[in-house]
Amino acid sequence: MLTHRRADFPDGFLFGAATSSYQIEGHASGGAGRTHWDDFADTPGNVAGAQRGDIACDHLNRMDEDLDLLRDGNFDVYRFSTSWARVLPEGRGEVNAAGLDFYDRLVDGLLERGLKPAATLYHWELPSPLADLGGWRNRDIADWFADFTRVLMERIGDRVWSVAPINEPWCVAWMGHFLGHHAPGLRDIRATARAMHHVLLAHGRAVEVLRDLDVSNVGAVCNFEYAAPADDSAEAQHAARRYDAYYNRFFLGGLMNRRYPDEALEGLGQHLPDGWQDDMELIGQPLDWLGLNYYTRKLIAPADGPWPSLQEVEGPLPKTQVGWEVYPEGLHAFLRRVHEGYTRGLPLYVTENGMALADRVSGGAVHDPRRADFLDAHLAQVRRAIDDGVPVKGYFTWSLLDNYEWNMGYGPRFGLVHVDYATRARTPKDSYHTLAEALAQ
Ligand code: FCB
Repeated sequence: MLTHRRADFPDGFLFGAATSSYQIEGHASGGAGRTHWDDFADTPGNVAGAQRGDIACDHLNRMDEDLDLLRDGNFDVYRFSTSWARVLPEGRGEVNAAGLDFYDRLVDGLLERGLKPAATLYHWELPSPLADLGGWRNRDIADWFADFTRVLMERIGDRVWSVAPINEPWCVAWMGHFLGHHAPGLRDIRATARAMHHVLLAHGRAVEVLRDLDVSNVGAVCNFEYAAPADDSAEAQHAARRYDAYYNRFFLGGLMNRRYPDEALEGLGQHLPDGWQDDMELIGQPLDWLGLNYYTRKLIAPADGPWPSLQEVEGPLPKTQVGWEVYPEGLHAFLRRVHEGYTRGLPLYVTENGMALADRVSGGAVHDPRRADFLDAHLAQVRRAIDDGVPVKGYFTWSLLDNYEWNMGYGPRFGLVHVDYATRARTPKDSYHTLAEALAQ
């Protein structure tokens, strides 16, 4: 049940919903170039059913309907992302005019409906020609990304409410280059270390461009996973600390404190590009806000083998459709920790939080009471952080729509709105209606 209402939060607190380009737009349309996600999905065994984002939610052609859903849901702000390959099909050089037009219409469509446009410039669909050149392993990506930032923001930067260059640096670097679960599907510690640093360098170069263009409200979005030791042993505690270092503290430390944690450097230091220390000034330039994406916790145990010598252990808490434990207290812990140790007064936003359920339409409705419970439990933790004095200024649900959930394909349903992938019909779920009511002015 959703017990929280808008009035339970401070004046001006923003409620939003989030999506990302490749997950909803339909990448085969509108002149977008090939991306490393298409390459990853075309490689057997990487993505459930080898599914790709070719049509996805067909948001490209249904944008108005989707923006109406945001307006009618009483949201204040919409967090969307822009596809590099839609704007620059080859990653560099020639611009796809239809791509820029689409984002221009999206921003205007939001403003017309009284919604604030919160843009994320990169949410994982790297143009394939740049992947061919080494992608995130190549230091030049910082300049390529800065150029893309300029092309796009010269067009829409005057009307967006906020901008974050890169969604979840950890996922870009670690999921893609260490675990191999995301594009480009590598399992290589050296590639990982380089990608970790270059993704922050690209953030830094993009921020320079945004400042130069006078774009307002520039921030960053990191994802956090609460790392708990699997048992009381000192070994499990050390393992959880290592996990926490490369997952939660590496990017945050670089962005906010201009340093990487020692526990991460133990394993990654020798693989970082020469002279990385000289980039920390650029990486750590002042920001206007920080966004936290939070979903779950992990129980961590030690393991044999090379650094980081750890393994995940299944936990006892209730799980979502994708097997993630529901642990709302972790959100409170991170809001406090980020504020006290890193951002020290900067506005914080929960930029993603939500759950996957195996939702079905029956009789024209979708009954998803567990989603309202999930939202309520996490909003309670946001409220608790605000009471502790943490400047949390907004909360975004992931996601507006069911969509392409990366290597899990179209199976997991994270949306407030159900999408039928045969017809692309949208059906607002019970959680959408409940939240809309709670957010009514
Ligand atoms: C986040 C991603 C988002 C979606 C959710 C479930 O890590 O930013 O695209 O996949 O997880």
